[in-house]
Amino acid sequence: MADEFSTQTSANNTCTARAFAKVNLHLAVGPARPDGFHELVTIFQSLDLADTVRITCAEAESDSSVVSDDSGLHESTPGHSVAHDSPIHGTFVQALTVTGQDSESVPTDASNLAWQAVDAVAAALRAEHTKELALPQVTIAITKNIPVAGGMAGGSADAAAALRAANALFASYAGISALDEQVIHKLAAQLGSDVPFCLHGNTALGQGRGEKLHAVPTSGIYHWALVANAQGLSTPRVFAVFDEIVERDKLVGKQPQKNPIPSETASLAAALQAGDAQQLAGLLRNDLQQSALHIRPDLREILDTGEHAGALAGIVSGSGPTCAFLCADEQAARQVAAEVEKKIAGTRGIIATSPAARAELVES
Ligand code: C5P
Repeated sequence: MADEFSTQTSANNTCTARAFAKVNLHLAVGPARPDGFHELVTIFQSLDLADTVRITCAEAESDSSVVSDDSGLHESTPGHSVAHDSPIHGTFVQALTVTGQDSESVPTDASNLAWQAVDAVAAALRAEHTKELALPQVTIAITKNIPVAGGMAGGSADAAAALRAANALFASYAGISALDEQVIHKLAAQLGSDVPFCLHGNTALGQGRGEKLHAVPTSGIYHWALVANAQGLSTPRVFAVFDEIVERDKLVGKQPQKNPIPSETASLAAALQAGDAQQLAGLLRNDLQQSALHIRPDLREILDTGEHAGALAGIVSGSGPTCAFLCADEQAARQVAAEVEKKIAGTRGIIATSPAARAELVES
């Protein structure tokens, strides 16, 4: 099936998509695999806190009607971009800019997952059609709302949005069918463990590295106070500390770490199906929380403060340091967010609801 959104764009010079943050309601982590990744069983849920990614044909932004590519100079037709037979410097991305919350700490080079997503879509379209397929150079503009390095899949959300936007833009430009959902999902899994979920949205059981997904039925809306932190946490570092704790525990005779099993999520899945926030609060689990707290003991005070301010429960979100507080309603979420922000310097309170949608195209 072709990407359903691709049909909404008619030879546009710009496509914009948005993708939502996630929280792990259950995050069970197994021992490190030979490839260094950890086998996970997780229940992801998307939150209505989104970044947007706008992808624009580069020549559409410039006044010049003549641009160069590898093979020399080409004249453009007014109103339409010049096609390049091959990407300049091995990439279709001419520039990447970031605005919004914490934008100064987001990379603007090829290490940004959104940049890699654009090139992955171009390569896959060429593999599917012809390797000479003419595609434009593009610029990427990211608007951040999701905390950066916060354990909420902000970079992965940008990659997911970039996959959708680039797929629609390139297909429209070249007048070809867009990559289908299965291909986009495969590219997402190559980009990062959380990117497939950001494409999928809503609620899902994640296995493997987190990339193997099954939709989980839910009812109702959940209210959250999210407490973001001025200083981010590195995901690989949190997993490395997780491994150190496992090794240390072995030395004192604790049971060896086992691979997690999906049936452990059964009670949580039942609470989600019932739409029961109180019940869900008692079942939140994050095996990375101990490691995040080991690196950042200050997060304990945030968790305690949020719970005293009226949250049903608080957990570190993914690898942290954002703390996510499940609340009974919107008013309670506002109160928790405001109180933690007031009491603890360097924090920022955000309110959000879950679940939210999948990564999707929006009006530019
Ligand atoms: O997949 P992604 O690039 O987002 O992962 C970032 C890092 O998090 C990995 O390099 C690895 O250190 C760690 N990770 C892991 N096991 C997973 C997912 C991520 O060890 N299932």
